[in-house]
Amino acid sequence: MAATGSAVGLGNLWKFPYIAGENGGGAFVLVYLLCILMLGIPVMVAEVMLGRRGRQSPIRTMAALTREAGVGKFWNGIGWLGVVAGLLILSYYSVIAGWALAYIPDMTQGLFQGANAEQVKMRFDALRADRNGLIYYQSIFMLLTTGVVVFGVSRGLGVAVRLLMPLLFLILVALLVFAWQQGDFARGFEFMFHFNFEALTGESVLVALGHSFFTLSLGMGSIMAYGAYMPQQASIGKTVLMVGGLDTLVALMAGLAIFPIVFAHPGLEPSAGPELLFISLPIAFGNMVGGVLFGTVFFILVTIAAWTSAISLIEPGVAWLIENKGFNRFTANLLLALIAWVLGLGTVLSFNDWSEYTVFGFTFFDGMDFLTSRIMLPTTGLLIAVFVAWVMPRVLSKDELNGEGSVAYCLWFWMLRWVCPLGIALVLVYGLYDTFSS
Ligand code: PHE
Repeated sequence: MAATGSAVGLGNLWKFPYIAGENGGGAFVLVYLLCILMLGIPVMVAEVMLGRRGRQSPIRTMAALTREAGVGKFWNGIGWLGVVAGLLILSYYSVIAGWALAYIPDMTQGLFQGANAEQVKMRFDALRADRNGLIYYQSIFMLLTTGVVVFGVSRGLGVAVRLLMPLLFLILVALLVFAWQQGDFARGFEFMFHFNFEALTGESVLVALGHSFFTLSLGMGSIMAYGAYMPQQASIGKTVLMVGGLDTLVALMAGLAIFPIVFAHPGLEPSAGPELLFISLPIAFGNMVGGVLFGTVFFILVTIAAWTSAISLIEPGVAWLIENKGFNRFTANLLLALIAWVLGLGTVLSFNDWSEYTVFGFTFFDGMDFLTSRIMLPTTGLLIAVFVAWVMPRVLSKDELNGEGSVAYCLWFWMLRWVCPLGIALVLVYGLYDTFSS
């Protein structure tokens, strides 16, 4: 349940639709699905397995397992890369979650009632330009994330996932119905599932790969940290397939709710970028029966989904500070949240005061996203695959996964040994080349 809470978040509701829109739809969606199935799922099994075998924070788990495998310290880097990536992601994740928070009062006040695309865009532009407002909401979100320690991670997460995820699912169904009736559903559907391979570049394949890791919370220790708490008799394979399936379903539903609305409203573009969710769905809520209630609940749920993910972004670092540096949970959380908050100011400013400053065409926010999703997560994923399938003695993974059946084990091992390293390396090299040569 905690892994589902980590996986389902802004990545599904906010990021997937907008990057699908920016990368031309159909062919991108197909590549993304292939990445999930062929690279994400096997790496996720490996990550959970490592965590359960190590039963400590990712950094110490990797140190213990490299010792057990009798290999050099190089592989400890997997744990470290993860902690750093987690903080970098959290820094901008909290700013975007702040946008969702800011929309809650707007929704309750019925600000979007009867609104058209123009009006919603104006509201969003005002939000983005308001530096202090953004900092205010980012800070509230950070406090919420840190506050979870007061109630204990498991209880808070349990309620959030068991009760609120089904509710989020229901609202998405309601939005789908609206998109079906009032939007241009046929065009939205075609945009997502018509494979126009001409739109596909090396760069967009890299975006798809990076996002498959981002959305499954892979390559940064979150899933490893949660694997450490997993009961020995639970099936890793079944759990991973369920989490991956639910995560993909939520992302596709979000896309199918958003694109029909986009196509039905002149002035909206699928390639609008990070604001896509925030300018398309308010139109739906503003023009449906019960929209004030639905819209309020929706943005509360988006915030909660982001919150259960944010907790997992910070957990690897927190666990390490507690085990190695003698921190208690509260101060460890506070310290890391503070670091992420300060870094997050760069993202806030990149939407207003610093929007003109770019390096290689990247604003601060783009740069953070590029560095984490497109470079760090796939690199760590690659290292995990190589470590488990080539470096670690095979008996260890066999022992940990002995409940999964030998056919499933062999298939997984083969994927992890050949398909994952080659696939990830190929996309990384080609994608980076394509990004910087254009
Ligand atoms: N998977 C989360 C999402 O889709 C984001 C995340 C990435 C969480 C990496 C933890 C680790 O929103």
